[in-house]
Amino acid sequence: MRITVNDIKEMKQKGQKIPMLTAYDYSFAKLVEEAGIPLILVGDSLGMVMLGYTSTIPVTMDEMIHHTKAVVRGTQRALVIGDMPFMTYHTSVAEAMRNAGRFIQEGGAQAVKLEGGEMVAETVHRLVSVGIPVQGHIGLTPQSINQLGGFKVQGKTPEAALRLLKDAQALEEAGAFSVVLESVPYALSALITKRLSIPTIGIGAGAGCNGQVQVVSDLLGLYTEFVPKHAKQYTKLSEIIKKAVGEYVGEVQSGAFPTEQHSYKIDPALIADLEKIV
Ligand code: KIV
Repeated sequence: MRITVNDIKEMKQKGQKIPMLTAYDYSFAKLVEEAGIPLILVGDSLGMVMLGYTSTIPVTMDEMIHHTKAVVRGTQRALVIGDMPFMTYHTSVAEAMRNAGRFIQEGGAQAVKLEGGEMVAETVHRLVSVGIPVQGHIGLTPQSINQLGGFKVQGKTPEAALRLLKDAQALEEAGAFSVVLESVPYALSALITKRLSIPTIGIGAGAGCNGQVQVVSDLLGLYTEFVPKHAKQYTKLSEIIKKAVGEYVGEVQSGAFPTEQHSYKIDPALIADLEKIV
């Protein structure tokens, strides 16, 4: 039985912190769930860390569905959220419903995430009313990077701080089950968290949020292009992988791999007979 959006909301009421992490494929999703993550986001960050784009903007629905299916196959208990890509929920509510529906029907996700506050509240309301749970995402919204002028902390002026609070409240009123706060000063996140009854999940938003989300490739030190200030590397898999692959290269070149242990046997008489024929 999978964790539900109600379980996630209850975690806030019980004062339990919510660890959320991205995953993009079967093997990682399995490991992440086995390590105790209840909430997995198939983030459109996969565009950068899995597909090598320079931003999340080129990511398509088909790419997201492909990865979401793999994550769902790798999990049994975690609540899987599909991240709606740029321009798949902006042109009309009908378009947003169709695309969100694909995440649930084709992808097997249990919820979707979309970026924006009051601007997307009507869409969130309609999705929730047809049975699609929605997670909001405000603050630094990477799909608006061209408008925001870079990966900058948000909500630092009185107007911007008030806007974020109103956006968060609009998402709650629209029926979102939680809200991601990205790159928001921690005192503001703490205030927003206090004002909402649904959980806030922070990334670069301080310890006052009800939960935290990280990009798995940052957390494991896999993505080496840049490490955001808010990311904590719990290990450096890139170094471990390069060392292991380097050893493999050396052993293939020297003939040390494969050994008999990694090879399959056949009756020598059969080979001897074959040699006589050819
Ligand atoms: O795409 C993503 O990974 C995200 C998280 C950073 C919240 O949106």
